[in-house]
Amino acid sequence: MLDVSGVEVRFGGVRALDGLTITVGEGEVVSLIGPNGAGKSTAFNVITRIVRPQAGTVRFRGRDVLALPAHAVPGLGIGRTYQGLELFASMTVGETLMVGHHAVDRCGLVAAALRVRRGAGVDRAARTSAREIAERLSMTELWDVPVTTLPYGVQKRVDIGRALAGRPALLLLDEPAAGLTHHELDGLGAFILGLRADLAMSVLLVEHHMPLVMAISDRINVLDSGRPLATGTPAQIREDARVIEAYLGVPAGGGRA
Ligand SMILES: Nc1ncnc2c1ncn2[C@@H]1O[C@H](COP(=O)(O)OP(=O)(O)OP(=O)(O)O)[C@@H](O)[C@H]1O
Ligand SMILES: [Mg+2]
Repeated sequence: MLDVSGVEVRFGGVRALDGLTITVGEGEVVSLIGPNGAGKSTAFNVITRIVRPQAGTVRFRGRDVLALPAHAVPGLGIGRTYQGLELFASMTVGETLMVGHHAVDRCGLVAAALRVRRGAGVDRAARTSAREIAERLSMTELWDVPVTTLPYGVQKRVDIGRALAGRPALLLLDEPAAGLTHHELDGLGAFILGLRADLAMSVLLVEHHMPLVMAISDRINVLDSGRPLATGTPAQIREDARVIEAYLGVPAGGGRA
């Protein structure tokens, strides 16, 4: 489904990515982990055409993603959330979800936001789709509530909803667990697996919360300073001495994962 190969990104003297290679098969939940600054969010920015790599290829269902503009990415079937919330401050939950639906038809997120804000061109399909997502996320009663008045964890859920409203085939989640309360964290793994089971979605997950990564991933890719360090099943990654040393920060045999 997604095939990222040999991607290199330099920001001035910083090598943010150096040979990134990831594959996601249809229906898979694949994780990308690594220390702060390893290049995980940059990988998402390459896949969604925000950052142009100096080398490498990105293919999605056979299409050359790097040949397309950023605003065409949602229409391909790739949705994403953002590590720092990028919700439109003045919008309600309902408006935000409708923006997610409209971002798919070629115009991109900002144009979709303006369209929803004007109230012009919000079609019935957008409203219906957004209502379905609100139900799925148990947010129907929050429809008219301004997003920024909600607790952080709920705002993050709205951001996932915005991405889901575009009905992506592949969802990129950038640290969905960060900042959540224990209670909010509890249901997150089941929620992500439910996207695959009910909506036939594939997921590429960036996350520091290891119990979540270990519990739901089919495969895990480990990055260290932009370079691929290891790839394998949760069981393989848990046992990998290089990973334990470089990422989990304990000597092999110390076993903290
Ligand atoms: N737009 C940018 N301009 C310059 N440098 C950048 C830019 N984006 C990222 N970097 C640098 O690239 C490297 C990788 O950053 P990135 O945000 O991808 O890491 P990350 O793995 O997502 O980290 P974290 O776990 O903290 O979110 C870092 O050194 C970062 O400072
Ligand atoms: Mg990041």
